[in-house]
Amino acid sequence: MKQRKAMDSADLLDRDMAKKNLEGHWNLGLESYLPYPVTTVRACLWKWGDVHESLLRAAEVVSLEKAERRTVRLINPALKNRHATTHTVQMAFQYVKPGEHAPPHRHTAAAFRFVLKGKGAYTTVNGQKCVMEEGDLILTPQLTWHDHTNDSDKPIIWLDGLDIPLVQSIEQLVFEQYGQPAQPVQKSSEEVALFYGHARPTVPPVAEFFHYKWRETYRILRALVETASPDRFDGHLLEFRNPLTGGPAMPTIQCALQLLRPGQETEAHRHTSTVIYHVFRGSGSSFVKDERFDWEEGDSFVVPLWYPHRHVNRSSSEEAILFSMSDTPVLKSLDLYREEPAIL
Ligand SMILES: [Fe+2]
Ligand SMILES: [Fe+2]
Repeated sequence: MKQRKAMDSADLLDRDMAKKNLEGHWNLGLESYLPYPVTTVRACLWKWGDVHESLLRAAEVVSLEKAERRTVRLINPALKNRHATTHTVQMAFQYVKPGEHAPPHRHTAAAFRFVLKGKGAYTTVNGQKCVMEEGDLILTPQLTWHDHTNDSDKPIIWLDGLDIPLVQSIEQLVFEQYGQPAQPVQKSSEEVALFYGHARPTVPPVAEFFHYKWRETYRILRALVETASPDRFDGHLLEFRNPLTGGPAMPTIQCALQLLRPGQETEAHRHTSTVIYHVFRGSGSSFVKDERFDWEEGDSFVVPLWYPHRHVNRSSSEEAILFSMSDTPVLKSLDLYREEPAIL
């Protein structure tokens, strides 16, 4: 024992500890810690032409019976091995042909759809029929049963948002089939919405609120533009909120819309949340750290955490409307959300 002590060294200790699944903190080195967060996610732009072409080709060669869902995902070039758009939230696009039905299932990943093209198809969420029109946002929170039916005479395309990379990283992903071809419809989202307005029945809601209609969202957005000055970083910004709690639409995903007036340029800022944008209307440019993304309707792009960014509406006559999803609620619930003005 005496001899062993004399020969002991940090290297020998490290080796001996490794055999016992132990490790000294002294090897980490303070240089691996920085005074700001660092991300593996890359800023990236996806053009609608590429997404749309892939969806149309998939409609020809991918059968819904086999695929369960016909979706095209946005893959971040830095996260190819995780098949993910960012480290927390995921964006994809789904195409359902007339007469098609995507069967019911549920999962612990929370999801939503934002309708881009087409109308008249419907998503059933926990027995609640949500008839889809352009600009509608329909939530399918964790473990809600959902299936999609297109009984209109036109294809429908919507944007799917999920927190699946986050749920996978904390090893909580669970998926379950309903076991029947379709859920029975028990009520409509129009009927349920009556229980969530500013004047409400005194009895408890008949079901959860899942369906934000575009006509209502757009009415509020217009009123905001006409009555309030724009935020210097985000223009006229609306967040979709849970009508009962006033909190985010879902515990892990924040959905928002921001309107940039013709010619408007925002100031640069940065935050610890990661945002995926989708251009719903208009054209413009976003400057994200050292990249410039010129975007048109249908394009999507990622702003990674702590990257300085600002937006410009390049049109002198048309408004631009950006839909976005982010992991902000997760960061806020962990007390890790920070934002500050930036120079760009
Ligand atoms: Fe699903
Ligand atoms: Fe931002």
